[in-house]
Amino acid sequence: MPSRFLARLGVAQPLVLAPMSGASTPALVAAVSNAGGLGSHGVGYLAPQAILDEAAKIRALTDRPFALNLFVLPDEFEEDEEAIAFARATLDALMEREGLAVRTSRPERWAPRFSEQFAALCEARPAAASFTFNLLTAAQVRELKQRDIAVIGSATTLDEVRAWAALDVDAISLQSAEAGGHRGSFLHRPEEGMIGLFALLRLAARAVTQPLIAGGGIMDGRGMLAAEVLGADVAQLGTAFLACPESAAAQAWKGDLSRAQDSSITTIRSFSGRAARGLRNTYVEAMAAVESRLPGYPVMNALTAPLRRAAAAAGRGDLISEWSGQGVGMLRAMPAAALVASLLEEYGQARQGLS
Ligand SMILES: Cc1cc2nc3c(=O)[nH]c(=O)nc-3n(C[C@H](O)[C@H](O)[C@H](O)COP(=O)(O)O)c2cc1C
Repeated sequence: MPSRFLARLGVAQPLVLAPMSGASTPALVAAVSNAGGLGSHGVGYLAPQAILDEAAKIRALTDRPFALNLFVLPDEFEEDEEAIAFARATLDALMEREGLAVRTSRPERWAPRFSEQFAALCEARPAAASFTFNLLTAAQVRELKQRDIAVIGSATTLDEVRAWAALDVDAISLQSAEAGGHRGSFLHRPEEGMIGLFALLRLAARAVTQPLIAGGGIMDGRGMLAAEVLGADVAQLGTAFLACPESAAAQAWKGDLSRAQDSSITTIRSFSGRAARGLRNTYVEAMAAVESRLPGYPVMNALTAPLRRAAAAAGRGDLISEWSGQGVGMLRAMPAAALVASLLEEYGQARQGLS
């Protein structure tokens, strides 16, 4: 059964590349779209013009449909001066101890304005757009639909699924507890939104009529089929693509992923101020005791940017945000087109086995 959501977009294969800010690239997105799936690009960290530039780069590499993804945030952010001062002093001391020659600074803005990013996304007109961290307004959903951009809302709990369904979006993307990267939870605290894919998928499939895109821990064709059997319209894979040459994950991150296990994954707030799933490393352990005193997202994310950049340049994977899902032990380092071909072959074989 082809995905009814993807068929509408003209996408033939039942596979979505998850948007991955900091790891997805135009080359990765285009490779997946050219191989018949739907490539998605995480552009949530980018300024409006950069979003337009990335869309143009994807279009130079493929004429197939693709999706763009944004973090739904307010335009201005709360500044807790005490927490900022504490975070800067803690990070500066850590960088000194670890021999990194950079220090924190206060950026002009903590993050781009969402309203301007949203306008750029509308102008870029991808076939689909997905949103995480919060709901859109009804007017924003209308604006996307008027431009013929299919709207995907991300949910981590049944309440969040229902909230997106009430906005009449075109599909709902489930981010289960297994998933790598930032937790998208917005109606619940992240620890309450850690629902495994088996439960989340069945709950959602019984509750709403929108097509469901299932993500979290899916690493092979058998997992893709399992998601479909449980009620998903299509499977979305993120971590599975992190070790591809087209992924922007730093070399040291890729190396650490190749040695990581399911038990290496933890929930981390200290890199960005927002809960995310990734590898437990030197930075995570050093900051664990002070997590509750750090500023929230995106302030902390901006404050750790110099450290993350310097550590990546120095090959220090143990000091960067090494996002990963729990399926990391099944990671394959191969070009994205070859990985898609393998996934689809496994998926076909698993289907045959079932029938
Ligand atoms: C490195 C990385 C970056 C991510 N960035 C985003 C993002 O920008 N926007 C988003 O909606 N989800 C993001 N995610 C979550 C994925 O979209 C998806 O939920 C997840 O990858 C699925 O689980 P898996 O990693 O086990 O395949 C990210 C995940 C990873 C691993």
